[in-house]
Amino acid sequence: MILLYPGSFDPVTLGHIDIIRRAAGLSGRLIVAVLDNPHKVPLFTAEERMAFLREALRGETGIEVAAFSGLLAEYAQKRGVTAIIRGVRGTEDLTSEAQYAWHNRLFGGTETLFIPSDPALSHISGRIVREAAAHICPNIQTGFDDSVLRQLVTDNVRTALRQKFITKG
Ligand code: PNS
Repeated sequence: MILLYPGSFDPVTLGHIDIIRRAAGLSGRLIVAVLDNPHKVPLFTAEERMAFLREALRGETGIEVAAFSGLLAEYAQKRGVTAIIRGVRGTEDLTSEAQYAWHNRLFGGTETLFIPSDPALSHISGRIVREAAAHICPNIQTGFDDSVLRQLVTDNVRTALRQKFITKG
């Protein structure tokens, strides 16, 4: 069974890492696929986002980190995937994810499996991380503590956020 966990991962969060570990526990092969969308300007490039994932998952077996662009359904088909994995944080996620899941089945015949988020991590989102870091990191220069970011992201991402926003700020 080959599972595919797609996402923007801009940047990868502790919520994503939890879903990745749990999905990898279901199958010996998991592809974590970073969306490289030419129509959107992300905070981190696809290469950076893949590097964060690879670093955070170093030592884990059976997990491949890759990039994709275009339709997910097409990529899943090309990779011979058994099922797409998506983490679901609550009913809002479930509503939108069910719609995506149906279209991925319609376009590519691939089913989607939902993994419920750990309630302790379900408050985390990439958008919140980006927004919080943009405000927190520049304040480090004035003695503000960014340790709260430890509860949202891995150490390598926290360092990268600090570098990005301190040099910008
Ligand atoms: O981490 P995200 O931003 O919630 O991930 C969303 C993602 C990458 C799974 C979704 O945007 C996606 O599949 N994009 C690729 C284009 C596509 O297939 N769109 C949906 C079918 S119309």
